[in-house]
Amino acid sequence: MRTGLLLLGTNWKMNKTIREAVGYTRRLLELLQTIDGSEAAQVFLIPPYTAIQAVKQASDGRLWVGAQNMHWAECGAFTGEISAVMLEELGVDLVELGHAERRRYFNENDAEINRKVHAALCHGFRALVCVGEQLEDKRRGNGRAVVRNQVRTVFADVQADSAPRLIVAYEPVWAIGAEQADIRMEYVREIQNHIRTTLQKILGREAAATVPVIYGGDVNLRNAAALVKESGTDGLFIGRAALEAENFAALIRASVQALG
Ligand code: PGA
Repeated sequence: MRTGLLLLGTNWKMNKTIREAVGYTRRLLELLQTIDGSEAAQVFLIPPYTAIQAVKQASDGRLWVGAQNMHWAECGAFTGEISAVMLEELGVDLVELGHAERRRYFNENDAEINRKVHAALCHGFRALVCVGEQLEDKRRGNGRAVVRNQVRTVFADVQADSAPRLIVAYEPVWAIGAEQADIRMEYVREIQNHIRTTLQKILGREAAATVPVIYGGDVNLRNAAALVKESGTDGLFIGRAALEAENFAALIRASVQALG
């Protein structure tokens, strides 16, 4: 059973100037009005830091706007980093933590992501936390174990009363950025169920049942409807296929239609 509204979001990664970001946001809002049933979805945008404020303003309270990362400390000698206090001023609705590219290119590990999760919760943000196995893990049949260990560490010591502010993005590393990744609905279902079972041990059964678990990694128009209908996911988290407002709107349309 789905936890609530279908969550449909995009992380723009290191793309878009402020001007492009505002143009996108305005266009998406126009297009959303033409989509029947779009109220069944909560749409969110995660721009680069430089465009957050402008996108937040342009979104007119109708979209959630997030940050792609955040440091765990409130201030200090951390050149190039951004803190929760700074993001609070921008009014962000969520903070994405632990994306595979942060782990791969910037060596983030689960223990650091756990510190960030606590900092985000402490500042009242929703924490959208990414987990996912490598291709090698999947090939060896270790996908479940790898994801379980990630979930255990990134959510360590998180209390049940924070559950309403948690979102887990299951993003298999082998699917992110891939052309035509071999995404099997049964596999996504299995790993997402496993994420929830692991969350139960941390938050308790009732609280864990309310945490949305969404899917990301090569989501596109060919697979969005099937993911919504057949994988049991609570939402979709999209990169390349949502980089243009028209394309994101088409994905939103296909996803809410798939809800039936
Ligand atoms: P992609 O990226 O949709 O371009 O594969 C997904 C992600 O990084 O979340």
